[in-house]
Amino acid sequence: MNVPFFRYDWFFQENREQIISVHEEIMSSGRYVYGEYTQKLEKQLAELCNRKFATTVGSCSDALFFALQSVGIKDGDEVIVPPFSFVATLDSILRCGGVPVFVDISPEHFMLDIAKLEDAITQRTKAIVMVQLFGNCHPQQETINKIAQKNGIPLIIDAAQAVGIKSNGISAAKVGDIACISFDPTKIVSAYGTGGAVLTDDENTYTTIKKLANHGICNGTPEIAGYNSKISEQEAAYILLQIEKLPQTMARMNEVSEKYLSQLNGIEEIVLPHKCCTEPNCHKFVISTDKRDELRNYLKDNGIETKIHYATLLSEQKIVKGRKFLKHNLSNAEKASKQVLSLPIYPNITDEEISYVCQHIKAFFCR
Ligand SMILES: Cc1ncc(COP(=O)(O)O)c(C=O)c1O
Repeated sequence: MNVPFFRYDWFFQENREQIISVHEEIMSSGRYVYGEYTQKLEKQLAELCNRKFATTVGSCSDALFFALQSVGIKDGDEVIVPPFSFVATLDSILRCGGVPVFVDISPEHFMLDIAKLEDAITQRTKAIVMVQLFGNCHPQQETINKIAQKNGIPLIIDAAQAVGIKSNGISAAKVGDIACISFDPTKIVSAYGTGGAVLTDDENTYTTIKKLANHGICNGTPEIAGYNSKISEQEAAYILLQIEKLPQTMARMNEVSEKYLSQLNGIEEIVLPHKCCTEPNCHKFVISTDKRDELRNYLKDNGIETKIHYATLLSEQKIVKGRKFLKHNLSNAEKASKQVLSLPIYPNITDEEISYVCQHIKAFFCR
């Protein structure tokens, strides 16, 4: 049996007729950008994330860049960020000329270690970027928000992986001044190309982001040097369909995660993921083990594809070499980067495939 890490066409295969029909309608209408679907999507995103304003942009990478620009990050400004994330979290800071200040993660949930956050804040800190990782949200997100507010520092949430997640009724994209989400094709709500959105409750931030994403234009006149960052009507319609089906998608992802948890329970050599919030979306299923690389090879030899999120810390990426950055003790992140292994997880993985993966993990440790 072969179990791929992800099946990109899962949503299309399950909703083919609806997708083709809405695309036909949009192509015939001749309205390809910022039409009724994009406007409806922005309304629905604001509702889903319980925010006043949502702006769709070309990607979450752009969303993060615009968010940092809107809070005024410029050359030499320090931005606190965890080192354990996708490289886009770092790119956005560097694109603004910011100086990344890497603060360690918690070994329990791989997100920012709150115990180390306050010590890292100085007069030079101009923003904090917090990442909601692997389909969970930070269990102390409210406290992080309070720390940021107490110090007068904008808090930007990289919620790329966190659409749909709630903790005690509060959306993972509600915390902080600005949240950024991704519709990359691997995400729980995705485009088939790229896409992202910025969410905020502040009208000035919203207006600035709208301008940045649309050539700096406000009421027909360019006011600032902006960018061209948007999604098409076709992508907006596709994302809207995914939002409509999000409860079913999340239910299945949670079911897959529970199946993994129950079948892998009791293997001493692996640490299973912790559930940190009441409504996770289970975007990734990440286990940890000292024998990560041997296990990965064994699974590969048996047709099971896995990935490593993240083998290289942001503080070790080539793109920071030769630039100014600060790094606190990152021992938890360093350990995680050597131990984590992401197993295949998506709505249409079959129960047989899940069992096949688990049997091979058990067999590896019983050899
Ligand atoms: C944590 C995190 N931040 C940012 C991004 C960037 O998102 P996009 O691909 O929409 O630019 C991703 C995408 O994988 C991500 O996982």
